[in-house]
Amino acid sequence: MANSIFDPIHRQRACRRFSDDPVGDDAVATVLDAATKAPSSENLQPWVFVVVREDERRQAIGDHLGKAWAAGGLDYVTGRLPESLVADIDQGHRGGIADAPVLVIVGGDTRRVPKPWLASSVFPAVQNLLLAAGAIGLGSALTTLAAADKQSLSDLVGFPDEILPLAMVPLGYPVRTLGPPRREPFGEHTFREEFGQPW
Ligand SMILES: Cc1cc2nc3c(=O)[nH]c(=O)nc-3n(C[C@H](O)[C@H](O)[C@H](O)COP(=O)(O)O)c2cc1C
Repeated sequence: MANSIFDPIHRQRACRRFSDDPVGDDAVATVLDAATKAPSSENLQPWVFVVVREDERRQAIGDHLGKAWAAGGLDYVTGRLPESLVADIDQGHRGGIADAPVLVIVGGDTRRVPKPWLASSVFPAVQNLLLAAGAIGLGSALTTLAAADKQSLSDLVGFPDEILPLAMVPLGYPVRTLGPPRREPFGEHTFREEFGQPW
């Protein structure tokens, strides 16, 4: 386990290519335990996780993701994102992501939190999950394209109507070390006292 919270934060990247090395239930429990320490509106904890390991179901989820990618995802990013990123995302949606030994389908329970506020009470848990995964050496990625067609993702994991699918996170050991995240300096997004006043 990393000593400092800043280490996983400064290394957190979307991983879309995984080795065959197995991920034990202990590791999955560690990241989900961290996920469920997140804050939520009124502490209502609307997150729901389905941990998928079965080959057939992962394959079906991979096909589902591939369909969403072919139906518009690829067109949407082509020409707007750097070619190398498009290539990485492309291979991820054509099988790299679903090849991860564990796929975590993330949902939100509308009986706990109404739809308009649901995502903001689930994604803090997803961020905890990503950081905890990095802290124990696992690769992961937040993917929302998998939840674009909500009904078919729900059907794949048996969500009832009250659970809204929001994301899918693959978990596995990365095939290569990803470099540090490329981000603009925080000062370019931060103002002092009033918007427009430089930090
Ligand atoms: C709300 C959200 C949705 C995302 N959806 C997808 C997705 O559907 N597929 C994917 O491959 N990556 C997805 N990502 C990952 C981003 O593409 C990635 O975080 C971003 O390009 C930064 O790249 P890096 O993590 O390599 O630094 C998503 C990230 C966020 C925050």
